[in-house]
Amino acid sequence: MGKLAITGGKPLRTKPFTQWPIATKAEAAALKDVLQSTRWGGQPFPGKHAREFADKFARLHTAKYGQCVNTGTVAIQAALKAIGIQPGDEVIVPAYTWEGTVGPVLLVNAIPVFVDVDPDTYCLDARLIEKAITPKTRAILPVHLGMRFADMDEILRIAAKHNLKVVEDCAHAHGGKWKGKGAGSMGDLGAFSFQTSKLITSGEGGAVITNNLEYLELVQSYINAGRASLTDQFKKRIIGFNYRLGEFQAAVLGAQLKRLPKEGAIRQKNMKRLESKLKNAEAIGLLKPDPRITSLAPYGYVMKYFADKAKDVPRAAFVAALQLEGVHCDGLFYEPVYKSSLFPVDPTDFPALSWGREKPLDLRSMYSCPQSEKAAYHEAVWFPHQHFLGPNKDVDDIVDAIHKVLENIEELRGLDHKAIRNQRLGRADRES
Ligand SMILES: Cc1ncc(COP(=O)(O)O)c(C=O)c1O
Repeated sequence: MGKLAITGGKPLRTKPFTQWPIATKAEAAALKDVLQSTRWGGQPFPGKHAREFADKFARLHTAKYGQCVNTGTVAIQAALKAIGIQPGDEVIVPAYTWEGTVGPVLLVNAIPVFVDVDPDTYCLDARLIEKAITPKTRAILPVHLGMRFADMDEILRIAAKHNLKVVEDCAHAHGGKWKGKGAGSMGDLGAFSFQTSKLITSGEGGAVITNNLEYLELVQSYINAGRASLTDQFKKRIIGFNYRLGEFQAAVLGAQLKRLPKEGAIRQKNMKRLESKLKNAEAIGLLKPDPRITSLAPYGYVMKYFADKAKDVPRAAFVAALQLEGVHCDGLFYEPVYKSSLFPVDPTDFPALSWGREKPLDLRSMYSCPQSEKAAYHEAVWFPHQHFLGPNKDVDDIVDAIHKVLENIEELRGLDHKAIRNQRLGRADRES
């Protein structure tokens, strides 16, 4: 029996951290309002709560227009339709992200082109984008991943130079700002998710924001079965579907949006505390701060684990040990999408992968993105944002658990643990 909980010792913490999502009287009152109104659907379009929420959400992110949709995946898909992505076009995406960034590119029968991430941020590496541009490239789809922004200065510069559109995947960046500009407001459109784990949530849901009225109109039409938009200035028609958000969900989002700034400030303070206490841990690396991020929107706290500075104990063992100490965290949080078991792309389903080629593009074997693979399989450790919503003691417990595991790392050497296997296998079943 060792000192660590994973080897039979006493866990450092048994008390649960803050649960997520948080439901308050404000959500209950908003839900009751919808219930009694009997206007439950997203039609007539859009409902009162969805309209109010979308306007406020866009304003918070310094954008002119906002539109609720039913998932974050649809938000990206609608944005790609709005910028006119055509079958066979190429869209540059980061390799290290949730599969939901990339799926919408395939759904509009376009071709995702994977580019590696910057090891300082784990976001799309802007220095590698130009090498991936071909005559078919039409757009860049950066993700503001985890707790950092993709380098929007560089991305916008490259996009302007090559006449490309930019859609920001902001599924992790609610309330985030880059040089004072809201996430999603810098590219042509920004796409957000309100799925359960996100910084504000309605269980499922999404939103698109933009400064361009024509894009807004196309999104509104696309997600409302092809009907005219609210303003219908451009009278463009595209075939659309029912991707509307219901009023119950919009009402819950309205209540949560009010709390977002306060919760963001608490997370930020707690994360600073964590960083100040981890400075001397040799086996832990912190993501590089970027002063251009003027408002931090941390979907997760992301750090690096260096096995070579921890007696070569693999990350899976480190993460499993922390979990058993009572601190939830994840190592294999995302995989490079092209390698993921959740991305069994079959060219028969996506004909553009075959057009003009002897053999269809095999997205699963044609890429090797070393930084993404390193982050996914060896280095990155993700802590859920709600661990940082509690008192100082919660942060101190996380730090103490990390130190406890590192000080007793010897106990993990050569461990073939069930807990480790579970940790590795859990990903496909996990909620996004
Ligand atoms: C980076 C990223 N992009 C896109 C999505 C897709 O959002 P949704 O699950 O709401 O469809 C998610 C989240 O799940 C995500 O984390």
